[in-house]
Amino acid sequence: WILILDFGSQYTQLIARRVRELNVYCEIHPFNKDLATFADNPPNGVILSGGPSSVNDENAPNINEDIFNWDVPVLGICYGLQILAHNEISGSVEKADRREFGRSELIVDDNTDLLKEIPEESVVWMSHGDHIKELSSNYEVIAHTDNAHVAAVRHDEKPIYGVQFHPEVVHTVYGGQILQNFVYSICHLKGSWTAKSFIESTIEEIREKVGDDRVICGLSGGVDSTVVATLVHEAIGDQLQCIFVDNGVLRKNEFQDVLDIYEDQLHLPVKGIDASDKFLERLKGVVDPEMKRITIGETFIEVFDEAIAHDDSYKYLAQGTLYPDVIESISFKGPSATIKSHHNVGGLPEEMNLDLIEPVRELFKDEVRNVGRELGIPEHFIKRHPFPGPGLAIRIISDVDRPKLDILREADDIFISELRKNDLYDEVWQALAVLLPVQSVGVMGDERTYEFTIGLRAVTSVDGMTADWAHLPHPFLAHVSNRIINEVRGINRVVYDISSKPPSTIEWE
Ligand code: XMP
Repeated sequence: WILILDFGSQYTQLIARRVRELNVYCEIHPFNKDLATFADNPPNGVILSGGPSSVNDENAPNINEDIFNWDVPVLGICYGLQILAHNEISGSVEKADRREFGRSELIVDDNTDLLKEIPEESVVWMSHGDHIKELSSNYEVIAHTDNAHVAAVRHDEKPIYGVQFHPEVVHTVYGGQILQNFVYSICHLKGSWTAKSFIESTIEEIREKVGDDRVICGLSGGVDSTVVATLVHEAIGDQLQCIFVDNGVLRKNEFQDVLDIYEDQLHLPVKGIDASDKFLERLKGVVDPEMKRITIGETFIEVFDEAIAHDDSYKYLAQGTLYPDVIESISFKGPSATIKSHHNVGGLPEEMNLDLIEPVRELFKDEVRNVGRELGIPEHFIKRHPFPGPGLAIRIISDVDRPKLDILREADDIFISELRKNDLYDEVWQALAVLLPVQSVGVMGDERTYEFTIGLRAVTSVDGMTADWAHLPHPFLAHVSNRIINEVRGINRVVYDISSKPPSTIEWE
């Protein structure tokens, strides 16, 4: 496996994604991680990420030299290369006269190992302010650019390499090949880490851990919890019990539809609990978005707790924690502000004394989808857009009640079903309708109307962290608007949200 030591680059997760795409397992850890953690299972190679610091900064993050005791190949990327160079000759890295951001021409001087099969000239992506002025005689330059003389290096005795550019970004045309050379040829790893092998080993692990005990799992209707439940079910059969709660803020027919899929198609042992009255009672009069989240989170725990209260046979809680939530982040700027407290099913075990089973905690979202496919979860389920835990409550921009929910459900259903009908559903990352408390004047027939507004939002994104508004065809939007205004009582105006994230967010609350 590959250990990626993080020096704070915005691209660190991309490095991991690229390595995993080679079907090789990797983990990201902070640059200063205690390496004793890996004593039982040392990595077969180490990648040092880029980072925002300058090696000449007073508290510049440094390499733990102990990684060299493993005697495994090391690849430094950008800052990772500079810190290697700096540790050989202090002062060898300096501010560049011309900083390099964006595309650069890479000229290969030696294509025997790291740069095998890379053409003599190709486009690479740079993002650095410092450059290497002087290289210790232990290192040999194997590629250069016009601007940074040193673009790629190799140690002359040990399997240590460095690149100044970013092979992990798609703009580096042969970046994938370079990482493949490092992982396959230099670290001698085989691409044997696949969804299938993951499933086999995970099922085995779950079986061993759980023994004869019982496991409880909260389903959300999303991919992550469904994959987790299916994995656990494959492992221990009906020692698993799933719970799917109607929190009153699901979409039209969602509770029954999803419950049917769980039961009839996935054959999961699931108990549906209609707690909508309780949730809506608690949400009465709540306007503040964070208060809505907290209220729903707390009520969920209560309902979940009640459901298993008289049964102490449960020892484990299975949940769909993903790798991005687990990676220990290093922060050079201090804790970041809470924009939204994304409520998850997490937080349950502290209250409930259950041990956790988190079988996908080492996977990225797209890997969870692949595991789901391999497990036979239907494609239309795998491709469902993300839906927030607090549901429609954070899409009603005022207090929540049944009449408003009914209006929003109808509008949302028209939008989503039209996206599907017009083959646009898979083109967007997420699509939603929001109910705005703004009333405006309209005219229907000869009557004056004074009704609410529906906002439509559709975004393209890779991971939800950044997003652009989807440029849906105007005739399509016109058709959806028409249908909503004609068919949904209480709406006389439809607007389309054309904000990107940042500075906006995907949800309105
Ligand atoms: P934002 O609005 O923060 O949304 O740009 C990014 C993604 O997160 C979802 N989201 C949530 N998911 N609980 C969740 O489980 C929440 O409180 C929550 N708020 C936002 C949102 O739907 C989008 O996919």
